[in-house]
Amino acid sequence: MVNQAELEDELGDVLEKAMKHAGMTEESLARKSGVSVAKIKDAEDYRYDLAPSELRSLAAVLKLNEVGLSALSGGRYPLPELKGLPFVLHPLAMSFGVGRVNAYVVAERGADTGILFDTGNNYGELGERWPGSIRFLTAVFLTHWDADHAGGLAGVRRRYPDTPVFGPPGTDTRFTTLAGTEEIRLPGFRIQTMSTPGHSDHHHSYHVQLAEKPGPGVLVSGDLLFAGSVACAFYSPRHLLCNVRRILAEMDGETVVAPGHGPLTTIENERRYNVFNY
Ligand SMILES: [Fe+2]
Repeated sequence: MVNQAELEDELGDVLEKAMKHAGMTEESLARKSGVSVAKIKDAEDYRYDLAPSELRSLAAVLKLNEVGLSALSGGRYPLPELKGLPFVLHPLAMSFGVGRVNAYVVAERGADTGILFDTGNNYGELGERWPGSIRFLTAVFLTHWDADHAGGLAGVRRRYPDTPVFGPPGTDTRFTTLAGTEEIRLPGFRIQTMSTPGHSDHHHSYHVQLAEKPGPGVLVSGDLLFAGSVACAFYSPRHLLCNVRRILAEMDGETVVAPGHGPLTTIENERRYNVFNY
Protein backbone atom coordinates (compact mmCIF):
# COMPACT_ATOMS: atom_id res chain seq x y z
CA MET A 1 0.00 0.00 0.00
CA VAL A 2 1.42 3.41 -0.93
CA ASN A 3 1.60 5.87 1.93
CA GLN A 4 1.51 9.35 0.49
CA ALA A 5 -0.33 11.64 2.88
CA GLU A 6 1.72 14.40 4.47
CA LEU A 7 2.47 14.24 8.17
CA GLU A 8 -0.11 16.09 10.24
CA ASP A 9 2.50 17.79 12.45
CA GLU A 10 5.91 19.24 11.86
CA LEU A 11 8.50 20.30 14.40
CA GLY A 12 6.79 23.59 15.29
CA ASP A 13 3.49 21.81 16.00
CA VAL A 14 5.00 19.15 18.25
CA LEU A 15 6.99 21.73 20.23
CA GLU A 16 3.84 23.74 20.79
CA LYS A 17 1.87 20.66 21.88
CA ALA A 18 4.68 19.43 24.14
CA MET A 19 5.01 22.82 25.82
CA LYS A 20 1.28 22.83 26.46
CA HIS A 21 1.40 19.29 27.89
CA ALA A 22 4.25 20.31 30.20
CA GLY A 23 2.58 23.60 31.17
CA MET A 24 5.62 25.53 29.96
CA THR A 25 6.04 28.88 28.21
CA GLU A 26 8.72 29.77 25.66
CA GLU A 27 10.54 31.58 28.47
CA SER A 28 10.51 28.68 30.93
CA LEU A 29 11.51 26.23 28.18
CA ALA A 30 14.39 28.53 27.21
CA ARG A 31 15.59 28.71 30.81
CA LYS A 32 15.59 24.94 31.23
CA SER A 33 16.92 23.96 27.81
CA GLY A 34 19.44 26.71 27.15
CA VAL A 35 17.82 27.34 23.73
CA SER A 36 16.96 31.00 23.19
CA VAL A 37 13.36 32.24 23.35
CA ALA A 38 13.77 33.64 19.82
CA LYS A 39 14.78 30.26 18.40
CA ILE A 40 11.89 28.51 20.16
CA LYS A 41 9.40 31.09 18.84
CA ASP A 42 10.91 30.81 15.35
CA ALA A 43 10.47 27.02 15.49
CA GLU A 44 6.83 27.44 16.50
CA ASP A 45 6.47 29.63 13.40
CA TYR A 46 8.02 26.89 11.24
CA ARG A 47 11.39 28.63 10.88
CA TYR A 48 13.95 26.13 12.05
CA ASP A 49 17.49 26.99 13.03
CA LEU A 50 18.10 24.46 15.78
CA ALA A 51 21.44 22.68 16.18
CA PRO A 52 21.42 18.94 17.01
CA SER A 53 22.53 19.74 20.57
CA GLU A 54 19.61 22.18 20.95
CA LEU A 55 17.13 19.57 19.69
CA ARG A 56 18.57 17.09 22.20
CA SER A 57 18.16 19.58 24.99
CA LEU A 58 14.56 20.41 24.00
CA ALA A 59 13.75 16.69 23.80
CA ALA A 60 15.20 16.09 27.28
CA VAL A 61 13.33 18.99 28.92
CA LEU A 62 10.01 18.27 27.17
CA LYS A 63 10.36 14.47 27.59
CA LEU A 64 10.19 13.78 23.86
CA ASN A 65 11.64 10.99 21.74
CA GLU A 66 14.93 12.47 20.56
CA VAL A 67 15.30 10.25 17.49
CA GLY A 68 11.80 11.09 16.29
CA LEU A 69 12.23 14.79 17.03
CA SER A 70 15.42 15.09 15.04
CA ALA A 71 13.94 13.05 12.16
CA LEU A 72 10.93 15.35 12.14
CA SER A 73 13.11 18.45 12.22
CA GLY A 74 15.09 17.18 9.23
CA GLY A 75 11.87 16.47 7.28
CA ARG A 76 12.67 12.76 7.20
CA TYR A 77 10.31 11.18 9.69
CA PRO A 78 10.24 7.50 8.67
CA LEU A 79 7.00 5.90 7.54
CA PRO A 80 6.71 2.13 7.27
CA GLU A 81 5.91 0.09 4.20
CA LEU A 82 2.47 -1.39 4.76
CA LYS A 83 1.81 -4.92 3.64
CA GLY A 84 0.01 -8.06 4.57
CA LEU A 85 -3.41 -6.82 5.69
CA PRO A 86 -5.87 -9.68 5.19
CA PHE A 87 -8.65 -7.23 4.29
CA VAL A 88 -9.01 -3.97 2.39
CA LEU A 89 -8.51 -0.59 4.05
CA HIS A 90 -9.61 2.43 1.99
CA PRO A 91 -8.28 5.73 3.40
CA LEU A 92 -10.56 8.61 2.38
CA ALA A 93 -8.56 11.85 2.84
CA MET A 94 -10.63 15.02 2.69
CA SER A 95 -10.02 18.73 3.17
CA PHE A 96 -10.96 20.51 6.38
CA GLY A 97 -10.10 24.19 6.68
CA VAL A 98 -6.42 24.51 5.88
CA GLY A 99 -5.80 20.89 6.84
CA ARG A 100 -6.91 17.38 5.95
CA VAL A 101 -8.98 14.78 7.75
CA ASN A 102 -9.34 11.04 7.18
CA ALA A 103 -12.26 8.66 7.13
CA TYR A 104 -11.80 4.96 6.36
CA VAL A 105 -13.80 2.17 4.76
CA VAL A 106 -12.86 -1.37 5.69
CA ALA A 107 -14.07 -4.35 3.64
CA GLU A 108 -13.34 -8.00 3.04
CA ARG A 109 -11.36 -8.61 -0.13
CA GLY A 110 -13.64 -8.62 -3.16
CA ALA A 111 -16.68 -7.55 -1.12
CA ASP A 112 -19.09 -4.76 -2.04
CA THR A 113 -20.04 -4.19 1.61
CA GLY A 114 -17.93 -2.12 3.98
CA ILE A 115 -17.73 -0.55 7.41
CA LEU A 116 -17.19 3.22 7.63
CA PHE A 117 -15.04 4.84 10.33
CA ASP A 118 -15.72 8.58 10.71
CA THR A 119 -17.36 10.61 7.97
CA GLY A 120 -15.19 13.65 7.27
CA ASN A 121 -16.60 17.13 7.51
CA ASN A 122 -19.25 16.86 4.82
CA TYR A 123 -20.90 14.15 2.83
CA GLY A 124 -20.15 15.77 -0.53
CA GLU A 125 -16.42 15.23 -0.27
CA LEU A 126 -16.87 11.82 1.33
CA GLY A 127 -18.94 10.84 -1.69
CA GLU A 128 -16.20 12.04 -4.05
CA ARG A 129 -13.62 9.86 -2.28
CA TRP A 130 -15.95 6.87 -1.87
CA PRO A 131 -14.41 3.59 -3.11
CA GLY A 132 -16.17 2.50 -6.30
CA SER A 133 -16.35 -1.14 -5.17
CA ILE A 134 -18.38 -0.40 -2.00
CA ARG A 135 -22.18 -0.31 -2.49
CA PHE A 136 -23.45 -1.27 0.96
CA LEU A 137 -22.54 -0.30 4.52
CA THR A 138 -22.80 -2.69 7.49
CA ALA A 139 -22.09 -0.05 10.13
CA VAL A 140 -20.67 3.39 10.83
CA PHE A 141 -18.29 3.96 13.76
CA LEU A 142 -17.36 7.43 14.99
CA THR A 143 -14.19 8.11 16.97
CA HIS A 144 -15.67 11.34 18.36
CA TRP A 145 -18.21 13.99 17.50
CA ASP A 146 -16.03 16.86 16.24
CA ALA A 147 -17.31 18.33 12.96
CA ASP A 148 -14.30 17.18 10.94
CA HIS A 149 -15.01 13.55 11.92
CA ALA A 150 -18.80 13.43 12.22
CA GLY A 151 -19.98 16.30 9.98
CA GLY A 152 -20.77 13.98 7.07
CA LEU A 153 -23.01 11.72 9.15
CA ALA A 154 -26.31 13.31 8.10
CA GLY A 155 -25.47 12.63 4.45
CA VAL A 156 -24.35 9.07 5.21
CA ARG A 157 -27.68 8.49 6.96
CA ARG A 158 -29.61 9.78 3.95
CA ARG A 159 -27.68 7.46 1.64
CA TYR A 160 -27.74 4.45 4.01
CA PRO A 161 -30.81 4.99 6.25
CA ASP A 162 -30.81 1.48 7.75
CA THR A 163 -27.13 1.31 8.65
CA PRO A 164 -26.48 1.35 12.41
CA VAL A 165 -24.21 4.05 13.84
CA PHE A 166 -21.92 3.46 16.84
CA GLY A 167 -19.90 6.00 18.78
CA PRO A 168 -18.91 7.49 22.11
CA PRO A 169 -21.51 9.49 24.07
CA GLY A 170 -22.71 12.54 22.14
CA THR A 171 -25.66 14.86 21.73
CA ASP A 172 -27.05 12.98 18.72
CA THR A 173 -29.68 10.47 19.84
CA ARG A 174 -30.03 8.13 16.87
CA PHE A 175 -27.02 5.94 17.46
CA THR A 176 -25.74 3.19 19.75
CA THR A 177 -23.55 4.61 22.50
CA LEU A 178 -20.42 2.60 23.21
CA ALA A 179 -18.74 2.78 26.60
CA GLY A 180 -15.35 1.93 25.14
CA THR A 181 -15.02 -1.71 26.22
CA GLU A 182 -17.33 -3.51 23.78
CA GLU A 183 -16.40 -6.02 21.12
CA ILE A 184 -18.80 -5.67 18.20
CA ARG A 185 -19.22 -8.64 15.85
CA LEU A 186 -20.21 -7.81 12.29
CA PRO A 187 -20.21 -10.04 9.20
CA GLY A 188 -16.55 -10.86 8.57
CA PHE A 189 -15.15 -8.54 11.25
CA ARG A 190 -14.79 -7.99 14.93
CA ILE A 191 -14.31 -4.47 16.24
CA GLN A 192 -12.85 -3.92 19.69
CA THR A 193 -13.85 -0.55 21.10
CA MET A 194 -11.25 1.26 23.21
CA SER A 195 -12.01 4.31 25.32
CA THR A 196 -9.23 6.82 24.55
CA PRO A 197 -10.13 10.26 25.95
CA GLY A 198 -7.67 13.15 25.84
CA HIS A 199 -8.47 15.11 22.68
CA SER A 200 -12.07 15.15 23.88
CA ASP A 201 -13.69 13.71 26.97
CA HIS A 202 -15.51 11.10 24.90
CA HIS A 203 -13.25 9.60 22.26
CA HIS A 204 -12.94 5.99 21.07
CA SER A 205 -10.38 4.13 19.02
CA TYR A 206 -11.34 0.93 17.19
CA HIS A 207 -9.26 -2.18 16.70
CA VAL A 208 -10.48 -3.88 13.52
CA GLN A 209 -9.71 -7.54 12.84
CA LEU A 210 -11.09 -10.25 10.60
CA ALA A 211 -13.45 -12.41 12.65
CA GLU A 212 -12.01 -15.70 11.40
CA LYS A 213 -8.30 -14.80 11.14
CA PRO A 214 -7.75 -12.05 13.74
CA GLY A 215 -4.07 -11.07 13.18
CA PRO A 216 -2.73 -7.60 14.08
CA GLY A 217 -5.39 -5.75 12.04
CA VAL A 218 -5.98 -2.00 11.99
CA LEU A 219 -6.28 0.53 14.79
CA VAL A 220 -8.52 3.44 13.79
CA SER A 221 -7.05 6.02 16.16
CA GLY A 222 -9.07 9.17 15.36
CA ASP A 223 -7.68 12.19 17.17
CA LEU A 224 -5.40 10.25 19.49
CA LEU A 225 -2.28 8.92 17.79
CA PHE A 226 -0.84 10.31 14.54
CA ALA A 227 2.24 9.28 12.56
CA GLY A 228 5.02 11.10 14.39
CA SER A 229 2.75 12.96 16.78
CA VAL A 230 -0.45 13.01 18.80
CA ALA A 231 -3.66 15.02 18.58
CA CYS A 232 -4.28 18.25 20.48
CA ALA A 233 -5.20 17.42 24.07
CA PHE A 234 -8.19 19.75 24.44
CA TYR A 235 -9.67 17.66 27.25
CA SER A 236 -6.63 16.28 29.09
CA PRO A 237 -2.95 15.95 28.10
CA ARG A 238 -2.44 13.41 30.88
CA HIS A 239 -5.22 11.13 29.60
CA LEU A 240 -4.12 11.52 25.98
CA LEU A 241 -0.47 10.65 26.62
CA CYS A 242 -1.40 7.83 28.96
CA ASN A 243 -3.66 6.30 26.28
CA VAL A 244 -1.04 6.74 23.54
CA ARG A 245 1.71 5.09 25.60
CA ARG A 246 -0.53 2.24 26.75
CA ILE A 247 -1.54 1.47 23.16
CA LEU A 248 2.05 1.66 21.90
CA ALA A 249 3.23 -0.60 24.71
CA GLU A 250 0.49 -3.19 24.50
CA MET A 251 -0.63 -3.62 20.87
CA ASP A 252 1.02 -5.89 18.32
CA GLY A 253 3.76 -3.94 16.52
CA GLU A 254 2.43 -4.95 13.10
CA THR A 255 -0.95 -3.33 13.72
CA VAL A 256 -1.61 -0.70 11.06
CA VAL A 257 -2.55 2.66 12.60
CA ALA A 258 -5.19 4.60 10.64
CA PRO A 259 -5.25 8.10 12.21
CA GLY A 260 -7.83 10.85 11.89
CA HIS A 261 -5.18 13.10 10.33
CA GLY A 262 -2.01 12.35 8.38
CA PRO A 263 -0.63 9.15 6.89
CA LEU A 264 -1.02 5.51 7.87
CA THR A 265 1.65 4.06 10.08
CA THR A 266 2.20 1.05 12.36
CA ILE A 267 2.39 0.54 16.11
CA GLU A 268 6.03 -0.57 15.77
CA ASN A 269 6.98 2.54 13.79
CA GLU A 270 5.40 4.84 16.36
CA ARG A 271 6.83 2.84 19.25
CA ARG A 272 10.29 3.61 17.86
CA TYR A 273 9.93 7.12 16.51
CA ASN A 274 6.79 8.88 17.70
CA VAL A 275 7.91 12.14 19.23
CA PHE A 276 5.59 11.68 22.22
CA ASN A 277 6.68 8.10 22.98
CA TYR A 278 9.41 8.98 25.42
FE1 LIG B 1 -9.81 16.02 14.09
